[in-house]
Amino acid sequence: MIYIHKVKNIKPIEERNTFPYNIHSIVNLNELGFRKSVTFITGENGSGKSTLVEAIAINAGFNPEGGGRNFNFRTRDSHSNLFYHLKLIRSAYREKDGFFLRAESYYNFASNMDALDAEPGGTPIKQYYGGKSLHEQSHGESFLALLVNRLYGKGLYIFDEPEAALSVSSQFKMLVRMKELVDKNSQFIIATHSPVLMAYPNADIYVVSERRIELIDYESTEQYKLTKYFVNNYRKFLSELGL
Ligand SMILES: Nc1ncnc2c1ncn2[C@@H]1O[C@H](COP(=O)(O)OP(=O)(O)O)[C@@H](O)[C@H]1O
Ligand SMILES: [Mg+2]
Repeated sequence: MIYIHKVKNIKPIEERNTFPYNIHSIVNLNELGFRKSVTFITGENGSGKSTLVEAIAINAGFNPEGGGRNFNFRTRDSHSNLFYHLKLIRSAYREKDGFFLRAESYYNFASNMDALDAEPGGTPIKQYYGGKSLHEQSHGESFLALLVNRLYGKGLYIFDEPEAALSVSSQFKMLVRMKELVDKNSQFIIATHSPVLMAYPNADIYVVSERRIELIDYESTEQYKLTKYFVNNYRKFLSELGL
């Protein structure tokens, strides 16, 4: 399912001066289309993935700090003003569920959830996350619990480096859960470095490069090529690195 078709940058090119327009990929971004239920955004550290994904999420109505739409807490203003310049082109359908996983603020999200849970007479929110405080689970366990128990489909899910917490076999579990949620009319937009996650069948992969953001085949990504080479030749590779 496609809820967000496209993002357009409406800031005139001649006015793209200050941050985030010091990032080349963002300066040259005029529009980006989402054609598949699953879109990955990959690229080097510092290439602008988080800046882009956060701006899309804020425009889609999420809290910049991450979480579901009901989470409205703020620890600091850390998002860029790219969000003012992006316009989302939506499809005729409206999502029922949503979640924004912001790479840097999962801890704050977990704390806020505990606070909500502690309110007398409040909804036992923990039950959605497997019945345990997210702080009492490992980062990976709690993220898997969230995928399985909290997300229910017809959703717009925007994740920034979800693999950070996940073992390789947990990433396989995540692929399976993604397929279930896609079959229940969900859209995923995921910034990632993971060669496992990007293997999701029939997904679009955008690579954020020095100058632009462009579509790339899975087997042409650095993550696929370098990981494959490394695993098959790690002794030789390490000696090439002088180790
Ligand atoms: N508030 C800020 N002010 C100025 N530069 C920033 C700010 N936040 C991030 N940057 C810079 O913008 C670039 C892109 O950052 P980011 O989108 O986080 O990259 P990625 O997620 O691809 O690793 C980086 O070079 C980073 O240092
Ligand atoms: Mg990032």
